[in-house]
Amino acid sequence: SHNGKINIAIDGPAGAGKSTIARMVANMLSYVYVDTGAMYRAATWYLKNRGIEPEEVNEVLHTVQNLGIELIPGEDGQQVHVNGQDVTAEIRSLTVSSQVSRYAQIEGLRTWLVSLQRQMALRKGVVMDGRDIGTTVLPDAEVKIYMTATVEERARRRFNEMQEQQGITLEMIARDIAERDRLDQEREVSPLRQAEDAILLDTTHLTPQEVANRIVSLSRTYWERE
Ligand code: DC
Repeated sequence: SHNGKINIAIDGPAGAGKSTIARMVANMLSYVYVDTGAMYRAATWYLKNRGIEPEEVNEVLHTVQNLGIELIPGEDGQQVHVNGQDVTAEIRSLTVSSQVSRYAQIEGLRTWLVSLQRQMALRKGVVMDGRDIGTTVLPDAEVKIYMTATVEERARRRFNEMQEQQGITLEMIARDIAERDRLDQEREVSPLRQAEDAILLDTTHLTPQEVANRIVSLSRTYWERE
């Protein structure tokens, strides 16, 4: 491995706690956190804003070629910029959340984002979370985690994160999550699934610290094997 660093891939359904845990693990190891969901969200926000529907595949592919997506690590979390504009808050809206799986099915859009993601991981020392990291983006990642939790628990977590958005109920979020699980698992291009060599972690009854500690100790096991 590079400078003694490895790559850690974390996949799983919406709301399983991937981003919270990935950020904690990255901090504990002084690694870089890459939130690939934010990249799909940023592309969705941009396309939606321009009135481009996911069915207009040529238009989508033409448009994303001019799209600069940046993930900027900061004190209070990562900022997401699209062509220089800060869209950190916008990409978490229910509008984007409910549309992103439709855009994420477009093969050409995925190919483009996957190549950006691979570049980010070239020098190792990356904790990357998403749906297809262990299976497609970084099949050689040294540590692969597949993180799950029950739909009820995942909806509750998302609800707690989103409380400032008025009029959104727990039921709306649960429905959105269940629908996204379905779309993400049923799509043809790199669907959400557990890589054969990924370790399954059910976080329903675990605290974020417990989950993060477990992943860090799995990384240590990897180093000791080397
Ligand atoms: O993790 P998230 O909820 O921010 O992801 C948003 C959507 O992006 C998710 O519903 C599916 C899609 N996605 C994907 O298809 N592949 C990834 N590697 C990450 C996210």
